[in-house]
Amino acid sequence: MTDFITIKDIERAAEAISSRIEIKPEVGMILGSGLGDLADSVKNAVVIPNRLIPGWPLSTVHGHKGRLVIGELEGVNVIVLQGRSHFYEGYSMGRITLPVRVMQTLGCSKLIVTNAAGAINPDFVPGDLMLLTDHLNLIGMGGANPLKGPNLDEFGVRFPDMSQPYDKELLKLARETCEEAKIPYQQGVYAALAGPSFETPAELRFLNIIGADAVGMSTVHEVIVARHGGMCVLGISGISNKANLDGSTVTTHEEVLEAGKVLVPKLTTLVRGFLSKI
Ligand code: HPA
Repeated sequence: MTDFITIKDIERAAEAISSRIEIKPEVGMILGSGLGDLADSVKNAVVIPNRLIPGWPLSTVHGHKGRLVIGELEGVNVIVLQGRSHFYEGYSMGRITLPVRVMQTLGCSKLIVTNAAGAINPDFVPGDLMLLTDHLNLIGMGGANPLKGPNLDEFGVRFPDMSQPYDKELLKLARETCEEAKIPYQQGVYAALAGPSFETPAELRFLNIIGADAVGMSTVHEVIVARHGGMCVLGISGISNKANLDGSTVTTHEEVLEAGKVLVPKLTTLVRGFLSKI
């Protein structure tokens, strides 16, 4: 299936947003499962339902509100995706990363990307925040890279470097924020699988062996498109459940959403503190 996003698609979506706002967003934010309430902190917010934006991938998943919130947070102009769409919903990689292209077109130079993730690292527990230091793009390794198809030269090169998917300076600021606010944090490698089925115990043991600390069904394709277009990225996982490496427990979406309630206050403190530093 080909569904390659064109410059025209991106411009049409960007225009639907810019015609409704008066500010120029500097930082884009994508809020993962159960983490959308962070957008409630945005001041002077303009809220745009996703269905008003042409070509936007509409979320079908409970726990994703499906709207954009544009306004000010800690003095920084932000555009927040309150809920994202996923590959498993049937969209192409190009389509689910259209929001990142639009953020770039609107002028964002930084992206904060968040997700709910299962802990593979045995030291992590539900409720932990993990700052992403790197990722394993297992969906992309299987061929579904978001940059597949004609290269959009206006944004970046055909073969973009990925030696620093998560910006070291932004990571340092995030660590400092956590330390100042006394929020415990973990750091690690996020592995992305397509989902929507959760992993089998053998798949989780495999992920453990190849160096994953957490697993989820999003984020990495957004980060690749962000880096292709020259954005600096901060990635944060909210650990929602322990991965079930021995098959003794069951993982559910309800559990993931429930953990969001514990994670949102910590994530809000981290993001606000971080924004106040940039
Ligand atoms: N696996 C995959 N995705 C997830 C998980 C998980 O355990 N928890 C939250 N998102």
